[in-house]
Amino acid sequence: MTARSPIVGGNWKMNTDRAGAVALARAVAAGVRPLAGVQTVVFPPFVYLSEVAAALAQSGGGASLGAQDCYHAEKGAFTGEISVGMLKDCGAAWVLAGHSERRHVMHEGDDLVNLKLRAALHAGLSVILCVGEKLEQRLTGQTDTVNERQVRLGLRSVEPSELARIVIAYEPVWAIGTGKTATPQDAQDAHRHIRSVVADMFGTPAANALRIQYGGSVTAANAQGLMAQPDIDGALVGGASLKADEFTAICAAAANAR
Ligand code: 13P
Repeated sequence: MTARSPIVGGNWKMNTDRAGAVALARAVAAGVRPLAGVQTVVFPPFVYLSEVAAALAQSGGGASLGAQDCYHAEKGAFTGEISVGMLKDCGAAWVLAGHSERRHVMHEGDDLVNLKLRAALHAGLSVILCVGEKLEQRLTGQTDTVNERQVRLGLRSVEPSELARIVIAYEPVWAIGTGKTATPQDAQDAHRHIRSVVADMFGTPAANALRIQYGGSVTAANAQGLMAQPDIDGALVGGASLKADEFTAICAAAANAR
């Protein structure tokens, strides 16, 4: 099997202020610098991207910068939207596509997620495609079906050569911000199924090289058990990413699992 290096993302969502974002970026960069073998990306709100980019650069790298969303059009009359070119201009190398809150609060569908993902790839960005089932879907046995649909439609028309710039985050909706984490085994089962879908689309070697993160109430306390699973290659962290020490501990758990 291909060795996969873990990747941990800190999705700050609609949190922090200008000074707090810069301070958090500095603290995260300092925390993860000594860790070998784990890639770290922070996702601040759009309006703080440039300042966080500068703070990360001053801190000597260590953590990369991503945006929480994008719009697929290059420019024009799309009030309130942000293009991938603008994100790059602000120093972002990564972008999330299809985060649960975009899908379920902002009602974005799979077609729009796919357009955004492809626009980001086309511009040279790396993308974390987020998928995951709602509670009623899990309770009615639809977990794998929902994840499969979101993966197939999210990755539609992606070139095999672009897959290396994609990470998938499995984030069960019921686990996000609730304190209810998937058990390591439930998460592993979902990850294995997602990998099998990618293998069907792109072939086994490409699927084995793809990194799949778990997200949903990840903390320093539960990270180790999750990261020990063979198909879990890191975490996408919300609430716990706002505390530099805790986020660093999660990154360390991911690094130590390999
Ligand atoms: P929490 O870690 O707060 O549950 O959020 C997970 C998430 O949505 C990360 O993208």
